[in-house]
Amino acid sequence: MLDCSDKKEWFASWFDTTYYHTLYAHRTHDEASDFIRQLVAFLNPKPGARVLDLACGKGRHSVELAKYQMNVTGADLSACSIAAAKEHAHATLHFEVQDMRSLTFEEPFDLIFNLFTSFGYFDCDRDNAKVLEQVFTHLRPGGIFVLDYFNASLIDVHAVQEQSIERDGVQFHIKKWVEGHNALKQIHVIDGTFNEVFQEKVQLLYPDAIATLLQQAGFRIFACFGNYQLEEMKIDSSPRCLMIAQKPL
Ligand SMILES: C[S@@+](CC[C@H](N)C(=O)[O-])C[C@H]1O[C@@H](n2cnc3c(N)ncnc32)[C@H](O)[C@@H]1O
Repeated sequence: MLDCSDKKEWFASWFDTTYYHTLYAHRTHDEASDFIRQLVAFLNPKPGARVLDLACGKGRHSVELAKYQMNVTGADLSACSIAAAKEHAHATLHFEVQDMRSLTFEEPFDLIFNLFTSFGYFDCDRDNAKVLEQVFTHLRPGGIFVLDYFNASLIDVHAVQEQSIERDGVQFHIKKWVEGHNALKQIHVIDGTFNEVFQEKVQLLYPDAIATLLQQAGFRIFACFGNYQLEEMKIDSSPRCLMIAQKPL
């Protein structure tokens, strides 16, 4: 019998499958390329800046960041994603498996990015706070943290949404709802004889709660954008909540 403690947490199993990448295949390098171009124009990092793409997946943002004369490391818990990301590696672009709750880098970074809702996964609030503490510790004084979360204000907490999608011959039956303080997504994958249910569970963190968490970790927030075009955040309509925060000098 499988003991509970042996069971992988949802984010460790779902993101490590090829099905995650099939389902989100539309979140492409092109989207990442436009977004990173805007961010680099706004942040104006110095050449050679040390950059961490935290929870980088297969590295679509890391690859783009490395095009701007920066020294980029992509880190992710998923060994499969890091193996795929390493195909893009070069002298100033590296990838490694790391857990964002316990980073082991020795040199501080000038910039750390956490993009496309790669936060708020843990059941224990302490673990979520730990991620921000780790980011703070691994930034040099004056360094910048970019946290890209969904705008929780747009979520109807009473609605249950269901959708079926077929991608590359794989059937995905998806159900989304809110339970307590979490947005849940159940993903039933049918691929020939493969038939399994996965889950995404992300904290329903409203923009003011994100700001509070960042401030409690010691950051100073100096910008908040509402989409990947870096337009002003409008609480009632913006799809994203993109906080730009600085570790004080
Ligand atoms: C929604 S995906 C985003 C991936 C990537 N940033 C992108 O935009 O394509 C979230 C990522 O967080 C990673 N992740 C989840 N828990 C993690 C942890 N504890 N430490 C590091 N990465 C983690 C997953 O493996 C997954 O690649």
